[in-house]
Amino acid sequence: MITVKTVRELRAAVARARSEGKRIGFVPTMGNLHAGHAALVTKAAQRAEFVVASIFVNPLQFGAGEDLDTYPRTLAADQERLLAAGCNLLFAPGVEEMYPDGMAGQTLVCVPGVSEGLCGASRPGHFDGVATVVTKLFHMVQPDLAVFGEKDFQQLAVIRKLVRDLDLPVQIIGEPTVRDSDGLALSSRNGYLNDAQRRCAPALYQTLGALAAELRSGRDDHGVLIEDGLARLSAAGFEPDYLEIRHPLTLRPATRAERQLVILAAARLGTTRLIDNLLVDLD
Ligand code: PAJ
Repeated sequence: MITVKTVRELRAAVARARSEGKRIGFVPTMGNLHAGHAALVTKAAQRAEFVVASIFVNPLQFGAGEDLDTYPRTLAADQERLLAAGCNLLFAPGVEEMYPDGMAGQTLVCVPGVSEGLCGASRPGHFDGVATVVTKLFHMVQPDLAVFGEKDFQQLAVIRKLVRDLDLPVQIIGEPTVRDSDGLALSSRNGYLNDAQRRCAPALYQTLGALAAELRSGRDDHGVLIEDGLARLSAAGFEPDYLEIRHPLTLRPATRAERQLVILAAARLGTTRLIDNLLVDLD
């Protein structure tokens, strides 16, 4: 696996692979990689002969007061993990390489609808930053396919819509969430939790599971279920941000009659904000 820091080197390496007839798979990340990221790389390697990963902590998607400066940067360990998972090329640009004119006048890609509400409500501008950097990365790498985690369910919906709306020639593949043995979704931000918080953290997924069980038992009073779920999260020590039952494709609030649902939650343990979601198929 080679690591490059410039768009020029990236384009040259990808062009070489393409001239050998290889399909290009792409996995964008912000680094501090764990088994969840590795699963995306493994999936890409199953579907493409040449796998590109990127590591870039994108300032454009962080709000004021968020963890841009403290976000863990662990390049050497990440390179090991990527190599083991079957990555061929790592693109790890600096901020100047991605935003040579600075970020103030940057052209933005906005995806209305799916990026509103949920995390879009509590993190204004976040999905514009994600959509913009992913569009740039897609143009730099020009992959045939790209793999994203269902862990960031709204992000995946934003990217699917972006690709459709802008006719980008890339196939988007969603990969199920990889979890710890106690159910906690793997996340780079789990490293911020102290021991006591880490013991509370699985309550997030347990709450989603409890709601899913109620829905499967025939309950359709979503409002009451959400109130119960929020109370459960608070009792476990979380400060809930949102807990919602939505339609998995449009992310619009689900009606009582709907059979395909996704339960999405964001909640804070201290200053650490965790997100999770669970698909529920009632058919
Ligand atoms: P990051 O948080 O590093 O995540 C990179 C990819 O890994 C995303 O597609 C995310 O959904 C996936 N992922 C994270 N945890 C996962 C888990 N436990 N199981 C499966 N997949 C998981 O998401 C971003 O970076 C950025 O917003 C990015 C898309 C790179 C744009 O900057």
